[in-house]
Amino acid sequence: MYSRFYLSVLLMSGLVLVTYLVLTAYDGVMPEWKHYQIEYKELLIKNAKDDATRTRAQSMQSGLRQTYLAGLKREDRCVNCHLGVDNPMMADAKLPFKKHSGNYLANHPVDKFGCTVCHDGQGSATTLESAHGKGHGAHWDRPVLPLEYVQSSCAQCHDFDMLSKNGGAKVAGGETLFNEKGCRGCHKVNGRGGSLGKTLDKVGSEPIAYFSMKHVIGDHTVYNWLKRHFEDPQNIMRNSEMKVSLKGSDSALLTMFAMTLRSDEMPKQYRDMKYTPEVKLNGESLYKRYCIACHEDGTRSLYNEIFNRTIPAIRNPAFLKAADDKTLETIIKEGRKSTQMTSWKTVASGVSDEDVKNIIGYLSEKRPAEKYEPFPIPMSQGEPNNGKNIFETHCSVCHGKDGRGGEDRLGVSLRSPVVQKMVNPEFLAATIRDGRSGTPMPPFGKDAIGLGDKDIADVVAYVRAFPK
Ligand code: HEC
Ligand code: HEC
Ligand code: HEC
Ligand code: HEC
Ligand code: HEC
Ligand code: HEC
Repeated sequence: MYSRFYLSVLLMSGLVLVTYLVLTAYDGVMPEWKHYQIEYKELLIKNAKDDATRTRAQSMQSGLRQTYLAGLKREDRCVNCHLGVDNPMMADAKLPFKKHSGNYLANHPVDKFGCTVCHDGQGSATTLESAHGKGHGAHWDRPVLPLEYVQSSCAQCHDFDMLSKNGGAKVAGGETLFNEKGCRGCHKVNGRGGSLGKTLDKVGSEPIAYFSMKHVIGDHTVYNWLKRHFEDPQNIMRNSEMKVSLKGSDSALLTMFAMTLRSDEMPKQYRDMKYTPEVKLNGESLYKRYCIACHEDGTRSLYNEIFNRTIPAIRNPAFLKAADDKTLETIIKEGRKSTQMTSWKTVASGVSDEDVKNIIGYLSEKRPAEKYEPFPIPMSQGEPNNGKNIFETHCSVCHGKDGRGGEDRLGVSLRSPVVQKMVNPEFLAATIRDGRSGTPMPPFGKDAIGLGDKDIADVVAYVRAFPK
C-alpha cells in the first residue's frame, strides 16, 4: 500500500515538473514583442466601445511587422511594441501602448520616417534592452534618447530658425548659447573658431568609447558626458584648458546643441532646410562669439588659474589709449605665441578681415578721445644694456626674468613677435610710462616711480631684444 502511495506522489510531482519546464521553455521561445502584442490585443478588446471594434480587435493577428524605410535604408521595428502610437483610443494607455503625444507623427508619417530619426535607439532590434540600447546586454552607441534630449535630433533636418518657433526652442536656444558664450574662442565649427580645443563638427556622433567615463557620475552615455563636462570641464578632463561660465539649464541646452553636431547627414528628401544667407554679424556679436570666453567683458584684467597667466583687459580705456587700430589688428591676427591667445588670421580661424575690423570697432568704442602724450626722444634710441637693470629691478617680478609671463605671475608675456618686432615701440613706451589704470600694470613715469624718458627708451629696447 505504502509504496503505491509514494509512487503516485512521485508521478504527480514529475508531471508538475514537466509541465513547468514546458511552460518556461515556451516562454523563453516566445519573443518579447509577442507578449506586448497579446497584451495590446486584450487592451483593444477591453476598451472596445462597440461590437464592430471588438470583432476587429479579436481578429488582430500577432506577428513581427516588417518596417523597412527605403529612403533611410534602415529598419525601425519599434512599433512592434509601441503598438498604439497612432491610435486615438490609446491616449491614456500606459507605455509602450500609449498614443504618441503632439503632432510629431502627423508631420512625420511613421511609414516614411520611422522612430529612430528622432529617438535614436536600435531600430532593427526587437527586445526592449537592445532596441532601447541600454543596459549591460546592449552594445549600441545611440541609446534611445531621454525625452528631454529628443529635440537634438530635429536639427538633422530643420534649421534652427524654423525650430525656434516650431517645437525646437530648446535646441535653438542651445545654438544661441554656443555663439554667445564664446565656445568658438577655442573650438571650430564649420571651419570658424579658435584652435585651443578640437574642432567640434562631429562630437555628437562620436562613439561612446571616444569619451572617458572615468569621472562621470550617472549614466555612461554621450549626452551625460557632455552635460557633466560643461558643468565642470576640469572634473571630467583633468588637465583641460577649457574655460566656461554657465548657469542653471545652460549645460543641458548646450548638450542638446552639441548632440546636433554629427558627421552623418540625412538624405536630401528627408531634410527641410531653408538656407538663409549668413547674416552679417556686428562687432559685439563677433566679440561674444570669439573673444568673450577668455576676455569676459574686456574691462578687467583677469588672472586665470587654469592658464596660469593674466588675460589682459582689452576694452580698458588705458590700454586703448596706447593701442591704435593697427596695433590691435596686428595683435589679433598674430595672436600670442606660447600663450592661449590664438592667432585670428583669416585662413587659420575662418574669421574674415572684415570681421576683425568690426571686432576692433567694438573694442575701440571705449578709446579716449585724446592720444597719449608724445615722447620728446625717439624710442629707437634706447640701449638694451641699460634697460636690463631697470627690467630686473622693476618688471621681472610680474613679467618674469625672461619676459615670458605666466607661471603664477601677473604680467603678460613680452616675448611675442608682436610686442618685439611689429608693434610701434611707442605703444610699449606709453604703456610703461602711464601704466594701465584698472589693471595691475603700474605707471613707471616721472610722476610715478620716476623713470625718465631715456630710462623708458632703454627698457623698451631691452624688452624688444628678448628672443621670440
Ligand atoms: C520589446 C518592446 C519594445 C521595443 C522593441 C521598443 N520599445 Fe520603447 N518602450 C517599451 C516599453 C515597455 C517602454 C516603457 C518602459 C520603459 O521605458 O522601459 C518603452 C518606452 C519608450 C520610450 C519612453 C522612454 C521614457 O523616457 O519615458 C521611448 C521614447 C521609446 N520607448 C522609444 C522606442 C524606440 C525609438 C524604439 C525602437 C528603436 C523602441 N522604443 C522599441 C518597449 C519597447
Ligand atoms: C519627428 C520626431 C519624432 C518621431 C518621428 C517620433 N517621435 Fe516619439 N517623441 C518625439 C518627441 C519630441 C517626444 C517628446 C514629447 C514631449 O515630451 O513633449 C516624443 C515622445 C515619445 C514617447 C514618450 C511618450 C509620449 O508620447 O510623449 C514615446 C514612447 C515615443 N515618443 C515613441 C515613439 C515611437 C515608437 C515612434 C515611432 C513610431 C516615435 N516616437 C516617433 C519626437 C518624435
Ligand atoms: C529625418 C528628418 C526630420 C527630423 C529628424 C524631423 N523632421 Fe520635422 N519635418 C521633416 C520634413 C521632411 C517635413 C515636411 C516638410 C514639408 O512638408 O515639406 C517636416 C515637417 C515638420 C513640421 C511641419 C511644419 C513644416 O514646416 O512642414 C514641423 C512643425 C516639424 N517638422 C518639426 C520637427 C521637430 C520639432 C522635430 C524634432 C522633434 C522634427 N521636426 C524632426 C523632417 C524631419
Ligand atoms: C578657453 C578655451 C575653451 C573654451 C572657451 C571652450 N572650450 Fe571646450 N574644450 C577646450 C579644450 C582645451 C578641450 C579639451 C579637449 C580638446 O582639445 O577639445 C575642450 C573640450 C571640449 C569638448 C570635448 C571635445 C572632444 O572632442 O573631446 C566639447 C564638446 C567642448 N569642449 C565644447 C565646448 C563648448 C560648448 C564651449 C562653450 C560653452 C566650450 N567648449 C568652450 C577649450 C575650450
Ligand atoms: C583662449 C583664450 C583667449 C581667446 C579666445 C582670446 N584671447 Fe586674447 N588673449 C588671451 C591671453 C591669455 C592673452 C595674454 C597673452 C600674453 O600673456 O601675452 C591675450 C591677449 C590679447 C591681446 C593683447 C592685449 C595687450 O595687453 O596687449 C589682445 C588685443 C587680445 N587678446 C584680443 C583678443 C580678441 C579680439 C579676441 C577675439 C577675437 C581674443 N583676444 C580671444 C586669451 C584669449
Ligand atoms: C605688478 C605687476 C607688474 C609690474 C611690476 C609690471 N607689469 Fe607690465 N603688465 C602687468 C600686467 C598685469 C599687464 C597686463 C595688463 C592688462 O592690460 O590687463 C602688463 C602689461 C605690460 C605691457 C603691455 C604688453 C602688451 O602686450 O600689451 C608692457 C609692455 C609691460 N607690461 C611692460 C612692463 C615693464 C617694462 C615693467 C617694468 C618697468 C612692467 N611692465 C612692470 C603687470 C606688471
